[in-house]
Amino acid sequence: MSDLRKNYVVSHGFDESGRLYMQHWMWKMQLGWDLHPAIKLPESSDVRIADQGCGNAAWLVSLASDFEKEGRHASLVGLDVQNYHYPPTGNLPPNIKLAILDAFAEDLPEDQVGQYDVVHVRAFSSVIKDDNPEPIIKNAYKMLKPGGYIQWDDLDGDSFRAVAPGSHSESSIPTAATEEMVATSLQSQKVAMNLKYSWLGRLGQLYEQHGLEVVDYKKVIVKKELRSVMTVSLLMIHAHIARIAVRNGCMVGTDKNWEELWTKAGEEISQGVSLTMDMVVAVGRKPA
Ligand SMILES: C[S@@+](CC[C@H](N)C(=O)[O-])C[C@H]1O[C@@H](n2cnc3c(N)ncnc32)[C@H](O)[C@@H]1O
Repeated sequence: MSDLRKNYVVSHGFDESGRLYMQHWMWKMQLGWDLHPAIKLPESSDVRIADQGCGNAAWLVSLASDFEKEGRHASLVGLDVQNYHYPPTGNLPPNIKLAILDAFAEDLPEDQVGQYDVVHVRAFSSVIKDDNPEPIIKNAYKMLKPGGYIQWDDLDGDSFRAVAPGSHSESSIPTAATEEMVATSLQSQKVAMNLKYSWLGRLGQLYEQHGLEVVDYKKVIVKKELRSVMTVSLLMIHAHIARIAVRNGCMVGTDKNWEELWTKAGEEISQGVSLTMDMVVAVGRKPA
């Protein structure tokens, strides 16, 4: 049985993989790129890129297609602590290899040290405990070649909010029930899993403390057109987390029952209320 207190509780099933594909589409539609445009790759043919916590490798498959369109070659390596969502090797392009690695590992395997031009991390805000992403930054630093880049894309949990269609001032549709449902689920998850999100605001400073030059750090408000996909993705994850929290008796911050909160929020959402979170993009560079 899953336990909210364990490392990472999100489903191992097709539903979570489907959500990750959907979320990848949302990222690409918002940013317009997989690899940050400020990242300058060497002209040599042995460009190597790693994706930490790669999930179902959606980002790598998309990146492989970007490279193919540009007629460039790169070796792409997907790493994750578990392989539940990995596509079969036979269905991957030959330049993508997937392996198992704990992104927090204290002793990185030698074959991962100094190997990569880019280390990518995305959607780790439910993976980082105690407000401390430093083990991931340290490992990325070790994994990079001199002059290599870390690209971290994430969703800022503290910016989670309910929004009426258009801008608030134009709309009379209430959002209070959706705010309450979101706050309850989020708070239960934060308390049970010891999650905090303030590190997302400090990612640039943390890069500098670990010897990386900050190439870009920005918060991005997700476009209105992508609020529907964001809402579906967030409802999927919060329904899953709340089910576990209710079952384990660790729902906090409310004396109402989850079904009641969910139903009331659903009434607002059916009138057009969305859930949204801001994106954070942080690119750092190891000295050459
Ligand atoms: C929300 S998913 C994001 C997947 C992928 N980065 C994406 O954006 O589509 C988080 C991923 O982190 C992985 N993960 C959790 N703990 C990890 C760890 N300690 N080391 C490496 N990966 C981990 C999970 O297995 C899951 O695939």
